[in-house]
Amino acid sequence: MSSKLKIALVMSSTREGRLNDQVTKFVHHSIAKNHNVEIIDPATIEFPKTQHSMDFLFNPTGNIPENIRALNEKMKGFDAFLIVCAEYNYSLPPPLANLFDNISPATLVWKPCGFVNYSIGQFGGCRVGVQLRAFTGALGMISVPKQMSIPFAHEKIAQDGTPVDEKLTKELNLVLEHVYWAANALKMHKTTVTPPPWAI
Ligand SMILES: Cc1cc2nc3c(=O)[nH]c(=O)nc-3n(C[C@H](O)[C@H](O)[C@H](O)COP(=O)(O)O)c2cc1C
Repeated sequence: MSSKLKIALVMSSTREGRLNDQVTKFVHHSIAKNHNVEIIDPATIEFPKTQHSMDFLFNPTGNIPENIRALNEKMKGFDAFLIVCAEYNYSLPPPLANLFDNISPATLVWKPCGFVNYSIGQFGGCRVGVQLRAFTGALGMISVPKQMSIPFAHEKIAQDGTPVDEKLTKELNLVLEHVYWAANALKMHKTTVTPPPWAI
């Protein structure tokens, strides 16, 4: 088994001038040192007007757009997910929720995930962190214990992703360590024991 994991780095904001770009660069830099990482950016995906997550379960031969089928196939290949999440109204930015509303829960069940939250305010997106645990839990994902929130992110992370403070890198690396540990543990166990299904 390759020791390199396949990590999806999931962006959350599609806003023009988004901070999401620089925070994602910060995280990408650390993951890319040790593992394969691919960015999933909702701004680059053409979404249908309706959400298809349940169609994969209940009407799989139905009218699901090809690009959404391809996205689901791609998502299956990841060992773990790292979500770089802005806080919108104490909750998830709609583009992030919409992205996952087009992925079958059967694709994501038993997949580990970690969160790096941020905002321009003093709470750093810690409230969306709470929401993310519930949201990803509903999809059957396993969220790791450690998460981080970056307050005043516009001052803390430069446009090229460089943090002003090495403490941020240390904190990020602990989140990543949690994600890698969970990903390796689940990946290894799945080679000998098939996980229980999403639903009966
Ligand atoms: C619709 C909207 C809702 C927001 N709600 C919050 C919030 O609940 N808490 C917070 O700290 N900042 C909030 N903000 C400010 C964001 O922290 C800030 O705009 C940040 O840059 C958003 O990330 P982005 O630039 O990647 O979109 C909100 C911003 C927008 C556009």
